[in-house]
Amino acid sequence: MSATPTTTPIPNTPPVHSVQSGIGGASPTEVVHAAPLLTVNGIEVIYNHVILVLKGVSLVVPEGGVVALLGANGAGKTTTLRAISNLLKGERGDVTKGYIEYREQRIERLTPAELVKRGVVQVMEGRHCFAHLTVEENLLTGAYTRNMSRGDVSAALEKVYAYFPRLKTRRTSQSGYTSGGEQQMTAVGRALMANPRLILLDEPSMGLAPQIVEEIFEIVKDLNSREGVSFLLAEQNTAVALRYADYGYILENGRVVMDGEARALGENEDVKEFYLGLSSSGRKSFRDTKFYRRRKRWLA
Ligand SMILES: Nc1ncnc2c1ncn2[C@@H]1O[C@H](COP(=O)(O)OP(=O)(O)OP(=O)(O)O)[C@@H](O)[C@H]1O
Ligand SMILES: [Mg+2]
Repeated sequence: MSATPTTTPIPNTPPVHSVQSGIGGASPTEVVHAAPLLTVNGIEVIYNHVILVLKGVSLVVPEGGVVALLGANGAGKTTTLRAISNLLKGERGDVTKGYIEYREQRIERLTPAELVKRGVVQVMEGRHCFAHLTVEENLLTGAYTRNMSRGDVSAALEKVYAYFPRLKTRRTSQSGYTSGGEQQMTAVGRALMANPRLILLDEPSMGLAPQIVEEIFEIVKDLNSREGVSFLLAEQNTAVALRYADYGYILENGRVVMDGEARALGENEDVKEFYLGLSSSGRKSFRDTKFYRRRKRWLA
């Protein structure tokens, strides 16, 4: 493994294990080397003044990129997204070191509403639809911060329905009575109503059937290629995320332990063993994994 990151070099980036490959997804080299849309540089996050959760996280989302932020429970994925969209305060969290730039401007002091106006929209973990509102009313709340004209709002709604035809058929249903997949679609659709340039998507696959997960990731890919929306996807589902992303970062214990083009990460032996449940000898049983585990080289 090389220690040279394939992304635009970030000053003071802590050394991580980078994986390089010339054979990523659709034209990965162009995407990875595009101008950075978002730069997170060495951020440290502390909850309640004492709990150090992020210990110097750095990452880049290039313009037009789909970047996966991977890691197990409690690795710090949601905290990283909250730091970017300035949603930490409500959780008694603070960014105590490092900086975050969006389109080459510092954004740590902007409110979540100001960030939405600039095109940075977060879709929170667990979907968070207003259960008592209809699907369409939920979507309309997404247009609220953008001061759009009536015509623009209807055009935005039609665009959401074109990407999510299922939502059109459920437009008058109360969100609380729609399926988990439909609620996730509503949450992404609501983000789309704000005309975003960057969507921070937290755990879109959570609790959904594999087929619905594919459907949602296909729409992410379409939004990326047709609307030019960039994505930072936090996911525990490493296999799916690496199939749809161009580039990935693996977080463990609040640190990036590895990053690289998605295809190369998916083929990396450590990633296969520790995140995909595979090894060069094929899929392992839980018993094998439990009793014979190669030591993670980044812990050595
Ligand atoms: N509001 C909070 N106050 C204190 N500690 C918190 C708070 N939110 C998260 N943490 C802690 O920070 C760590 C990282 O949590 P985070 O939610 O960012 O992880 P995650 O990678 O998103 O995990 P998951 O995959 O389970 O969603 C965990 O140890 C968690 O207990
Ligand atoms: Mg999370």
